[in-house]
Formats: sequence, C-alpha cells, structure tokens
Amino acid sequence: MWDSLLINARLATMVEGKAPYGAVESGALGIANGRIAWLGSLDDLTARPGALAKKIYDLDGRWVTPGLIDCHTHLVYGGDRAGEFEQRLGGASYAEIAKAGGGIISTVKATREADADSLFAASLPRLQALMAEGVTTVEIKSGYGLEPEQEIKQLSVARRLGETQPVTVHKTFLGAHAVPPEYKDGRNGGAEAYIQSMIALLPRLKQEQLADSVDAFCETIAFDADQVARLFEAAAAEGLPVRLHADQLSDGGGAALAARFKALSAEHLEYANEHGIKAMAKAGTVAVLLPGAFYTLKDETAPPVAAFRKAGVEMAVATDCNPGSSPVSSLLSVLNMACILFGLTPEEALSGATRIAAKALGLADSHGTLEIGKVADLVVWDIERPAELAYRLGFNPLNLVIRGGKRLQPTPKASLQACTTGDP
Ligand code: NIG
Ligand code: FE
Repeated sequence: MWDSLLINARLATMVEGKAPYGAVESGALGIANGRIAWLGSLDDLTARPGALAKKIYDLDGRWVTPGLIDCHTHLVYGGDRAGEFEQRLGGASYAEIAKAGGGIISTVKATREADADSLFAASLPRLQALMAEGVTTVEIKSGYGLEPEQEIKQLSVARRLGETQPVTVHKTFLGAHAVPPEYKDGRNGGAEAYIQSMIALLPRLKQEQLADSVDAFCETIAFDADQVARLFEAAAAEGLPVRLHADQLSDGGGAALAARFKALSAEHLEYANEHGIKAMAKAGTVAVLLPGAFYTLKDETAPPVAAFRKAGVEMAVATDCNPGSSPVSSLLSVLNMACILFGLTPEEALSGATRIAAKALGLADSHGTLEIGKVADLVVWDIERPAELAYRLGFNPLNLVIRGGKRLQPTPKASLQACTTGDP
C-alpha cells in the first residue's frame, strides 16, 4: 500500500527527451516512504485508487511539477542596501560602489554585527517567500562573514534554516567573496594571506558538515584565477565540490577555470568566452543564469545563451537572492526574466529551476524530476499549461506542496478542495 496517490494529475515530469515538459496527461503518481513509488497514466493503475494507497488526492486535472530548486542564493545576511540602490539609480556603478567600500563589504559589516538569532530571523522571511512559490530545495552561500568564525556563523544559520523549515538546504562556503577590510590594500599580507586563511578553514567545514560545496568570486574587484585555483585545489583535497561566480562583470577566464576543476556550476557568465563555454560542455559544468542580477544592475551584455545551447551546456536559473545585485525572493519572477531578458523558452526556464538546478547542486540522482525512486518533492499548480509558471509576473498559482511525501500544512493558498481519503 502506498502512503498516498495523486490521480487526475497532469505531470510535468521534466524528464528530458520525451514530450514537452516530460508531460504525462491524465496521470497518477504514487508515494511511499517519502519517495515516488510509481507514476504513469491513470489507466495503467493496476487496481482502484483506494486499494492502492491510504490517501488519495484527486487533482482534477491540475499540473504537478517537481519541487522548485533555487540553486544560487545569498539569502542569509544582515541589513539592506536600499541606499546603494538609490546611488545606482543616480548613476554610480556596482563596481564603483564596491571600490569605495560599499557593496559586499557594507553587508559584511551588518552581517558581522548581527548575532546568529537575529540573522536567522532576518533570513527566514526571504526563505519563506521562496518556499511560498514552491521552492523545496535551496542553496545558501556564506560570504558576508569573511572571517572564520563569522563565516561559520552564516553557515550555521543556513543549516538551522534547513533543520527548522520544510526545505532542503545546500550550504556553500563563499569565503572568497571579497577581500575583507582587515586584508585590504596589502594589510596583514593582503588577499594572498586572506585566501590562505580561508583554505585553512576547509577541513573544519568538512568535518563539521558546514559546507556542501565551495564557491568563489573570480573578478577584478574580488579574486584572481590563481587565488581561486589554490582554493579549489584545497577544496578538492577535502572532497568538496566547487562552483564559481564567473565572468559576471568582465571576461576573466572564469568559465574555463570552473571547467578545469570540474565545477558543478559556473554562475552569471555574462562575459564567458567561446573557449570557456566549450570547456564547460566537456566538463559537464552547469551554467547558472541569474537574470535578477542582470536586471538589477541594468547590464547590457546578456549571457551567451545561444552558444551554451550550441555547445550543449545545460542552463539552470536562480534568484541570486542577495541585498546588492539581486534583491529578489521570487523564483517564478526569475523564470519570467530568464525568458524575457535572456531568451530562454518557458520549458528551458522551468528545467533550469528543476532538473538542471538539481544537477548544479549535485542532487541529480534524487531531485529535480518526477521519476520513480526520487524524493517526493512536488508542487501542484492552478494552471492550464506549464508555460504559465514563466508567463506572469507577481502572481503565484501554487496550490499545494508535497515535500518528502508529506503535504505541507498550511500552504499559503491550500485551496485544493478535492483532497479525499479513501476511494474518491
Ligand atoms: O552573485 N557577484 C558577487 N556576488 C553576488 C553579489 C553580492 C552582493 O552584492 O552583496 C552576486 O551577484
Ligand atoms: Fe551570487
């Protein structure tokens, strides 16, 4: 007997190579022990629903997708940067503000000043906003501590969010996000010494399971390729996978660098070059597109989407939720931006927040598609076709969320009336 069975469902399985969206019309999906136990056409059920499962959800033709995955966020931080938003509207650039000591460093100050409890309280509403749109897995980076104990504080808050909220949290160590004031302009050995201090932290992060992957910001205003390479070598020695903020503001060879270390993903990539794209394809490195940052910074150079397609680089889509370049807590809005600003199809955008996002987090075997054996993280939507998830801005058609086989109570709009127990 399954624990539950969804009937009269339209399943956007997001499995590649089948119908658009991997769709199964008139579908059914059985769940047992938190996993997908069966899925297929309703007609292929071997007995009447009530004989197969303890609980039946009659979805009345509603669409079901995998739980959404936001594979790139910086959502644990203190303070805000609305003042810089005003400065940028007045003509200052992101890089200029950063060079003048604002930008990431101003969030570092606010994050250091916050204790773990207030950091948790400040971050929770951002996470809840994502979850209200069907996000069941989220990546959260550190990178606003820039000092061992402060980085650990941020990662611990990310872990606590995952332990207390019904969401899977992938924790990424981004100690190499910016050079902190203590090491700025050659102080205390400069960026070199700072990177060494972050490398020295890796064994502890691994041992205390505070990081699932390691990230860095490779850019003229952050770290150069040699410094990133040293960090990545040390991460590999600890068995930690890597990912990279690459080629966001300029072509720094970030795409090729990420590929050289078989990175799970390279992110932003507005200025990625042809050589780097080919290397990413070969390494199986996912391109994580972040249209929220492109939009907020009023970038004019879009990432080379056509070249990614041609080379066979898979594209994920994420919010980049952070206080500076992407103050965005809506993955659905980002799906829309990915289509409007970067020219993705709605199907590519949704794949980028499900199957391909799972790959970017190293979770392709367990998450990201509706397939037998995978974790039963799924979302029921009040939509007529999957493209609607990317079509609107500022409208949330979520009906209910099932995570690890359990229906989340209460979902913000749990309007599904058709839920019955026993035979419908
Ligand atoms: O992904 N590019 C670097 N890091 C973030 C921005 C962080 C910030 O501005 O606070 C990003 O855009
Ligand atoms: Fe980022």
